[in-house]
This record gives sequence, structure tokens and C-alpha cells, in this order.
Amino acid sequence: MALFSILFYSACSKKDAVVPAPAPPATTILKDKAAFGIGAAVKSALLQGTYQTTVLTYFSQITAEYEMKMQTIWSGENNYNWSYADALVNFATTNGLNVHGHTLLWYQSFPAWFTNANYDSAAFESKVKVYIDAVVSRYRGKLKSWDVANEIFNDDGTLRSVNCPVYKTFKDPIAFYGRCFQYVRNADPDAKLFYNDYDVVIASSKRYSIKQMVSRFKNVGYPIDGLGEQFHYSINTDKTSIKSGLNDMATTGLLIHVSELDLKVNVTQSNTYVFSATDQQLQADAYQYIVETFEGLPTNQKFAITTWGVSDKYSWLTAGNAIEYPLLFDINFNKKPAYDGFLKGLK
Ligand code: XIL
Repeated sequence: MALFSILFYSACSKKDAVVPAPAPPATTILKDKAAFGIGAAVKSALLQGTYQTTVLTYFSQITAEYEMKMQTIWSGENNYNWSYADALVNFATTNGLNVHGHTLLWYQSFPAWFTNANYDSAAFESKVKVYIDAVVSRYRGKLKSWDVANEIFNDDGTLRSVNCPVYKTFKDPIAFYGRCFQYVRNADPDAKLFYNDYDVVIASSKRYSIKQMVSRFKNVGYPIDGLGEQFHYSINTDKTSIKSGLNDMATTGLLIHVSELDLKVNVTQSNTYVFSATDQQLQADAYQYIVETFEGLPTNQKFAITTWGVSDKYSWLTAGNAIEYPLLFDINFNKKPAYDGFLKGLK
């Protein structure tokens, strides 16, 4: 009998030993599951109620949708309007979110007083340097990263000339941008410095020019840490290009930021468009594909994925255009299938 008991108990305890502890339920929160930044572009005026709760629940970093653009901050030669940018940075600091600075130099965002002054190249650069010093040093230690320059190339790889004050002023615009990257590094040595553009994965000529610029910066010694690809695409965007383009960007060895992700569904811009269950699923699949592809990049190059907005209610794509549903949360801030697609794409 005693022997039976021993055998019985040892069989039980062996059995107990191999039963694994119950796994904690897998998280469904993007920022908790991801090993890299999960960002959203936000507008400071909207940061309250459900909008704010959604940002705080699901995201680990924010990008200012307009608050940190030159036009917003640089109200006059010696005047800076810090109120909007400060509000965002304070919100982030209080709530433990990272801030990605967007964007120091963008052809669309030079204030009118600046472009109207028609500065020669020396004056232009010394003013821009004063601006960079003021902005970057104000937020030094509070921002982890900056888009130093945004959209300087056309899709065919040539430098953007139309309405670009830098192109009009400098014989060698790339060298000017390189010096600006250096000014930013000097003002905040710890911030990661990005070049940001759109269509990078689908426009191979543009991508080539960006890579050439990166090589030139490296040769001359201008600092650059990362490349941002905006990712304003749709459910029809070619998946093969997304994959080969992202991998090609990563050959630079730089950090990669999917920086302004949103995916259009109303591709014909119809006024009678209905967001069908089929299109909701196609959008979920596209989000999943992009996130999975990003996950396939070398671990130390995965900087962040940022969606350009939070809820479909406030997307820049719906402002004045045909109806769109490009983001992860619907107009009532409920998770869409797109959210589940994103979540599934995370490792
Ligand atoms: C857009 C904002 O979303 C709008 O609210 C604003 O009116 C114009 O700028 N590429 C960029 C972003 O780098 O800064 C742009 O943001 C969208 C395209």
C-alpha cells in the first residue's frame, strides 16, 4: 500500500511538473506588444476625452501634426510662438510618451515673412541656423528624434524645385541640408536625426537619390541616423514594392521610421462610397502586411511605426475631400479590423 502511495504521488508530481504555468493572456495593446515605437500624429487641440484616452492607451510616442512646423513656431524674425508645441511636449512628458519632432525644414512650411524677404544664401542659412538652435535647444532632452528635412526630392529623384525656397537659394541644396543636420546635432547631440519623405518604397528613383544623399553625408561627416517613409498609401498599393522598398531603405544601415501611415480605401474618391466589410478586411490585411514587413527588418533598425492621426474622424484625408477611413480607430474611437491587422502583424 505504501509503495502504491509513493508511486501514485510521484506520478502525480511528475505530471504536475510538466503542466506549464498558464500563459498570461497575450496583450492586445499595440505599444505593449511592439518592441519598437508605436506612434500617432496628434493635434494638441484635440487632446481630451476619448481622443486623449486612445492615445495614452495604445501609443508610446506622438508626432505633432502641425505644432512643430516652422510656419507655426516662427511667427516673425525674432518671434516664436511656442504655445502649441509646448502644450504637446508637456502633455507627452507628463504622460511618459516620446515625441518625434516634425519637421524642421519643409518647403511647404517656410513662413511668408521669411520667403518674402528673399535672403541671399548666407543670410538664409544664418537665419535657419538661429531657428534650428532655438527650437532644438528648447526641447533638448525632451524629444528623442527630429525630422530635420522633409520631402526634398521629387518621385523621379530630382531635387524638388517648385515652391522650394532652399532650391531657389542654394547652388548645392544637399550640402545646405547636410550642414543643417550638423546644426541640429550640435544643438541636441542625443536626438536621432531623420530624413523624411513619401513614396520612398514605391519610387525607386527617389529612393536612389535618398541613398546617394545618405552616402554623401557619411562621406563628408554630416550626421544622419534614420530615414522616414511616410506611407500614405491605399489598400491597392503593391505589396512587392513595399517589401523590396523597405528592405532597400534598410541597406543604408539607418533607423527606419514608417512615419505617417494611413491607408486609403475609397481609392476612386467616390462621393457615394460605402466602407464595406470586404474593404475593411482588405485594409486590415494591408496593415498586417506592412507591420509584418517592418518586423522583418534588422532589430536595431526598427525605430517606430506612426499612424498619421488617431481616429478616422480627424484624418487629414477627410478634410475637404471624398470620405475616407484610413486609420486604426473609427469615428467613435472603436478599434477597426485595421487595428487587429496591425496587432497581428506584430511579432
Ligand atoms: C499635413 C497635416 O496632416 C495637415 O493637417 C496640414 O494641414 C498639412 O500637413 N506629409 C507631411 C505632413 O510630412 O506634415 C503632412 O501633414 C502630410 C503630408
